[in-house]
Amino acid sequence: MVVGSDSKVKIRKLRKGDAKKAGQFRERNIAWMWKNYLMGVYPKEAYAFEVWHWSEASLMERLKDPEFFGIMAECEGEICGILAGMVYGKSGFAMVNWIAVAPEHQHEGIGIKLMSAMEEHVAKRGCHKVSLHTLPALVPAVRLYMKFGLLPEAFLRQQWWGADFILMSKWIGKYRKH
Ligand SMILES: CC(C)(COP(=O)(O)OP(=O)(O)OC[C@H]1O[C@@H](n2cnc3c(N)ncnc32)[C@H](O)[C@@H]1OP(=O)(O)O)[C@@H](O)C(=O)NCCC(=O)NCCS
Repeated sequence: MVVGSDSKVKIRKLRKGDAKKAGQFRERNIAWMWKNYLMGVYPKEAYAFEVWHWSEASLMERLKDPEFFGIMAECEGEICGILAGMVYGKSGFAMVNWIAVAPEHQHEGIGIKLMSAMEEHVAKRGCHKVSLHTLPALVPAVRLYMKFGLLPEAFLRQQWWGADFILMSKWIGKYRKH
């Protein structure tokens, strides 16, 4: 995993000691996404599930799994961005399950930094492909993914909670051009 820093942001691995703050970050992030993009698109039960799914306790369990990876962006010692996902053994396939940047730090290139660190990590693990699911309503996320080279691979009608999703993928490793 590429671990780096510039004057404002440090990119590093998510550790057990970060789980509490990461869970709180997820809760704030879901509330923000809900208010700005998901109200009327994604049902309220989904909101509660997402909070639980990335709670401190759930993260502590995930961190025991060697295939799990978490990457954190830190701004002045505080979490300002997170990306988490899984490598599926030696299959050559990885999924990104969560990416978020704190609203006050969006448009600073942190999303791209997190995606770059993720790609380095999964390429080193021998992956040739990385995918993620997103919602069409999450326009900044879809744009970030397109900018990073993920292509829409499938439209998933009424996937989770009755909402439509998009599967987006990037082919890396031996297919990587840079
Ligand atoms: C998606 C998200 C992670 C982007 O993070 P970010 O740090 O702001 O992204 P960057 O600054 O690296 O910007 C990269 C590109 O993303 C796109 N982008 C970022 N914010 C955008 C916005 N508000 N509107 C449209 N495009 C946007 C642009 O293409 C941008 O490139 P550009 O600046 O050259 O136009 C952030 O908006 C976020 O946390 N959103 C809420 C959580 C979320 O939707 N997660 C994805 C769930 S699937």
